[in-house]
Amino acid sequence: MFGRDRVELKTPEQIRAMRRAGLLTRAALDAARDALRPGVTTDELDAVAAEVIRAGGGTSNFLGYHGYPKTLCISVNEVVVHGIPGGRVVQEGDVVSIDGGAVVDGWHGDSAFTQIVGEPRDAGDEELVEITRQAMWRGIAALDRRGRVGDVGAAVEDAVDGRLAIVDGYTGHGIGTAMHQAPDVLNHRDRDRGPKVRPGLCLAVEPMCTRGTTETDVLADEWTVVTTDGSRAAHWEHTVAVLPEGLWVLTATDGGAAELGALGVTVPAQ
Ligand code: MF3
Ligand code: CO
Repeated sequence: MFGRDRVELKTPEQIRAMRRAGLLTRAALDAARDALRPGVTTDELDAVAAEVIRAGGGTSNFLGYHGYPKTLCISVNEVVVHGIPGGRVVQEGDVVSIDGGAVVDGWHGDSAFTQIVGEPRDAGDEELVEITRQAMWRGIAALDRRGRVGDVGAAVEDAVDGRLAIVDGYTGHGIGTAMHQAPDVLNHRDRDRGPKVRPGLCLAVEPMCTRGTTETDVLADEWTVVTTDGSRAAHWEHTVAVLPEGLWVLTATDGGAAELGALGVTVPAQ
């Protein structure tokens, strides 16, 4: 029904249905975050999220996606994205990115966060996490201007301001009746500013940054994406909808009101 490059615009009612997927995604990621401490295995974190999604009446959109074997992607230190949960034991000072999503009634949520476990190894790791988080929020806020989708990437690039490397070759995406839809949402400025931002547009905004290189390799498991220089990486992601009245961050408990409010963007009351 929707061509690869056609943008699927959602009605306010459909966006309300997507909110349920967004909130279940949030609950699953929050539960994994609450369980994140030294000594836990990434498989244990995966099981925590899987149970929240199951109990909430949803399904995981990652599990089985092109054969992906788990509910979460858990990417530790030099792993940028798509780390597969397993027996790895989380250590104090690890930089852990947790990415996941839930499907409810056919609608998808997708979100990620990065957290340092216990005491940070150094201030640079804290900056890595915080600058990437701020870049995500500035990218989301740029949608409120109703310009072009490419304004997200420009805002991400400006927010990072050369302090981190923005990972090459990975982008955000449209989301709705599938996890990955048109359009691509770049994390940097591009000549092609992309489609117009209009009501009904739903995007996953997801900057990925490193303390070193923009370059990555994929490991032999065909999933795990690592920095080529071993530098540590962060990844933040939210699913956001453009409503006729304004933005709604579907995977944030408060709809994005606090973070966007701090950037001068008012989130309409739901
Ligand atoms: N959440 C990732 C994204 O943002 C997708 C993970 S790939 C999967 O696009 F196979 F793990 F699902
Ligand atoms: Co995504």
